[in-house]
Amino acid sequence: MNAEHPSSPERPQRPIRSFVLRAGRMGTGQQRALLELGPRFVLPFEPRPLDAPAAFGRRAPLVLEIGFGMGDATAQIAAAQPQTDFLGVEVHEPGVGALLKQIGDRGLSNLRIVQHDAVEVLQQMIAPATLAGVHVYFPDPWHKKRHHKRRLIQPAFVDLLASRLAPGAYLHCATDWQDYAQQMLEVLSACPALANTATAYAERPDWRPLTKFEARGQRLGHGVWDLLFTRR
Ligand SMILES: C[S@@+](CC[C@H](N)C(=O)[O-])C[C@H]1O[C@@H](n2cnc3c(N)ncnc32)[C@H](O)[C@@H]1O
Repeated sequence: MNAEHPSSPERPQRPIRSFVLRAGRMGTGQQRALLELGPRFVLPFEPRPLDAPAAFGRRAPLVLEIGFGMGDATAQIAAAQPQTDFLGVEVHEPGVGALLKQIGDRGLSNLRIVQHDAVEVLQQMIAPATLAGVHVYFPDPWHKKRHHKRRLIQPAFVDLLASRLAPGAYLHCATDWQDYAQQMLEVLSACPALANTATAYAERPDWRPLTKFEARGQRLGHGVWDLLFTRR
């Protein structure tokens, strides 16, 4: 039980979320993409397993990305791997608009979006042992210690993630915060269902392009850590 918010029938406990919804301005291109492409490429959150072949119009390996931000890396990866289907999950609406714009500009057909909390998407819409991979790139570091409980990569969430991966499928995380990288390494290494592909941190795989966050981190002289695990 959470000591700060004891649950009671009068006051149900609110879950600790890994995000705070920010008001964000949408550009006109993003707004237009949302209106014109949203109906085809944004899937509604539903409390039942996703019918991926129906959503994508074919059977293909499915990779989930959590928190795609403005979607630059997402669109590049989907364009480079047309044989794989990608499901991007993001709560920030301008990011959804930005990725839809890229889908239109690049003519991508192997990418769909769910605008919802990824924890609930994994719990409700993704059946166990079905994903070919999961990408978690530069999740919010919540750098104040009292906010660490909001970090995504925690034991219970990693157990959930691992349960959704098919045997042999991969989990790829990256961060530019050293202490979050250490937390990721500890938590992922402690998950019995996962095996590290490296001795500790991995080389950046070819498929992950540099993101804006990473480019900024590099300018500030930060390091970047990739972690690449597979489902046993
Ligand atoms: C620091 S940004 C990184 C964005 C992008 N991956 C990149 O590398 O540029 C983290 C993103 O994760 C999103 N996010 C955080 N928790 C989430 C959750 N539970 N479900 C969906 N999106 C989430 C935030 O809205 C934010 O856009």
